[in-house]
Amino acid sequence: MSATISLQQLTDQLDQLEAEAAKAIGAAGSASELEDLRVGLLGKKGKLSAVLGAMGKLPGDERPLVGQRANVLKEQVQGLLGERLSAVKAAAMAERIASETLDVTMPATYTPAGHRHPLISTIEEIVDIFSGLGYRVEEGPEIETDHYNFTALNIPPHHPARDMQDTFYLSEHELLRTHTSPVQIRHLEKNPPPVRIVAPGRVYRRDAVDATHSPVFHQVEVLAIDEGLDFSHLRGTVTTFLQRFFGDLPVRFRASYFPFTEPSAEVDVQWRGRWLEVMGCGMVDPAVLEGLGIDPERYSGFAAGLGVERFCMVRHGIDDIRRLFTSDLRFLEQF
Ligand code: DAH
Repeated sequence: MSATISLQQLTDQLDQLEAEAAKAIGAAGSASELEDLRVGLLGKKGKLSAVLGAMGKLPGDERPLVGQRANVLKEQVQGLLGERLSAVKAAAMAERIASETLDVTMPATYTPAGHRHPLISTIEEIVDIFSGLGYRVEEGPEIETDHYNFTALNIPPHHPARDMQDTFYLSEHELLRTHTSPVQIRHLEKNPPPVRIVAPGRVYRRDAVDATHSPVFHQVEVLAIDEGLDFSHLRGTVTTFLQRFFGDLPVRFRASYFPFTEPSAEVDVQWRGRWLEVMGCGMVDPAVLEGLGIDPERYSGFAAGLGVERFCMVRHGIDDIRRLFTSDLRFLEQF
């Protein structure tokens, strides 16, 4: 026979359990501690189950009294656990918020947005206008042979015009191109007329550096060859282009000489009270076409070479060409 147990003893145990649970739950500081307590108090092998197990030893009419008391205790304990869990969670959140505060007044890290160099955007603008007139873009090498840079453009060896464009020689026949005009020859060799191209690029001259000269600069070459083209087409195209680029600056054509055009002209725009030369142009010399096997009786055309730096300087009011090459951000950031 197992030892008997009285109703009083069991009720005392439950009272004790209640006091113990309230104290332990109140002291718990985390969700996991509370879970351990729940298992220890209310779980299958927990303390409440132990008391209920002993209940079987009571006389039948006393059992419901203990059962009722146990149920009330269970609900109390569950209530205390729930409340404590909310409090613990709230405290953890408050602590996290306090430790993770963001200083929203701190200055953001600043990455300046870059932009195109003014020379590049000038080239793009020039090319855009000619694209709108039906021209396509072509490019050629910066290291040229003297054939393409001079001879094929009607400037034979020892011709005095070679002096106008002294350059840097890499070998006897290789040089840094002095103008974008050789692209005319390269393009016509591969593409029979009609052609309409613009060729932007970098060119080189053996020039001393000053406010208006640089040994490296940029040009955009223009070439149109077709049947029936004459000087009026050249003039109309150049004038239309200049008006689109500059708006209403006064423009004048001045007779000039280039070995690869006949007749030839230089074009000036009026800027800050004086005439500023911005391009050379002319009707392609029949000798150049003949050299390419193109019949000058059937085809004619015009060409032009634009000085990009001049266009850029007029557009932005820059008075010293060197500013465009020194990569000084204090200057470049203004554009
Ligand atoms: N190539 C010449 C230079 O750099 C400019 C030029 C003049 C180009 C007349 C042309 C042209 O296409 O027709 O001085």
